[in-house]
Amino acid sequence: EQTEKTVNQRLLEVCALLEHRVPYYNWVGFYFKNGDKNELKLGPYVGEPTDHVIIPFGKGICGQVAISNKNFVVPDVSAQDNYIACSITVKAEIVVPIFVNNQNIGQIDIDSNTADPFTDMDERFLEFVCKKAASIL
Ligand code: SME
Repeated sequence: EQTEKTVNQRLLEVCALLEHRVPYYNWVGFYFKNGDKNELKLGPYVGEPTDHVIIPFGKGICGQVAISNKNFVVPDVSAQDNYIACSITVKAEIVVPIFVNNQNIGQIDIDSNTADPFTDMDERFLEFVCKKAASIL
């Protein structure tokens, strides 16, 4: 249990650093596969509390990434049908999966209050962050 706490503390520090240092990262959190269930469970995050602690696979941007195993960059959330709104201030979202032993075990999810802010550099950077996160899980 001590190990688990330390991992969550480190992931929370990652969230805080990203939210603090990147002006267009306004909500930063981790979701992880919830045991054997086909759903995601919210892990450490920084930003407004969300009602969406559990997200079924396939639902919303996060749930779609749980199935696709691919980055999902959303420049304009209002153009998405399968989207779960957490806050009306959010304009864009990026979700990057985390792989451990080639299994998609979770993801980093970032909301932005800026329209269309994410570039290839965000994807490459967040892939790097996810690899680092995977290495401490
Ligand atoms: N917008 C996400 C839900 C999670 S919140 O952004 C924290 C989605 O559509 O999956």
